[in-house]
Amino acid sequence: MFSANQIIVALDVPDFQDGITIVDQLPEVSFWKVGLELFIRSGPAILSALKERDKQIFLDLKLHDIPNTMARACRVVTHFGVDLLTVHATAGKTALQASIHAVQSEAHTIGVQAPRLIAVTVLTSFSPSDLASDLKVSLPLSDYALALSSSAQSIGLDGVVCSPQEARQLRNQCGKDFLLLCPSIRPSWAKSEDQQRVMTPIQAVQAGADYLVIGRPIIAAPDPRAAFQRIRDEIDNEVGRNEWS
Ligand code: C5P
Repeated sequence: MFSANQIIVALDVPDFQDGITIVDQLPEVSFWKVGLELFIRSGPAILSALKERDKQIFLDLKLHDIPNTMARACRVVTHFGVDLLTVHATAGKTALQASIHAVQSEAHTIGVQAPRLIAVTVLTSFSPSDLASDLKVSLPLSDYALALSSSAQSIGLDGVVCSPQEARQLRNQCGKDFLLLCPSIRPSWAKSEDQQRVMTPIQAVQAGADYLVIGRPIIAAPDPRAAFQRIRDEIDNEVGRNEWS
């Protein structure tokens, strides 16, 4: 069953005030994604404001650096009390291990819950031909994403960001405890914009997504609250009612 707090709404807005306005306009949303633009502009203040409102936070920083730098950044993020943090799978085994060790040891030291680390494999804006032409990766896109996911899981990451089109295969390959976060969600009534490998919310849930990450179809809708409600209703009608709050 799928519950309301499994829809993460991407707070892709330019600044703190715009962010808080949307958060307060959508009281039903319990899980928010803070990405690069908003975090670079507002810093941890936006995270504190979300925590004050008892929201869960997905901090989508997509960290990718040398092991020492990633570990140090992960230690700092642990103090923010976020629930999920993204790192690039292509940062490599040593950097990913250092990141895991950093969040766990820092969380232990300061007595908080460690953020769960989520690997980014192939950005969902990439098409199969982009992967070959831009990154010179000759594997088919789905094989490459699966290989990076497997390796992230074996290193000890908690889950991956994946295209909903990869979710079913990843669920089979990685088992039920590995978290699958799916952006590239487009309700049939929304524009696909720059997302390439899109599915509707219902299709993504049926494919095995643990979390749907949805931005513009909600926050850029003429009525964001109605758009969020419509997505909830669509999932509810198709997949069954459970714990909507
Ligand atoms: O507006 P839209 O629904 O396309 O937003 C999707 C969100 O998910 C954006 O904030 C984007 O940065 C994020 N995301 C993504 N693909 C990934 C990781 C995160 O689209 N691989």
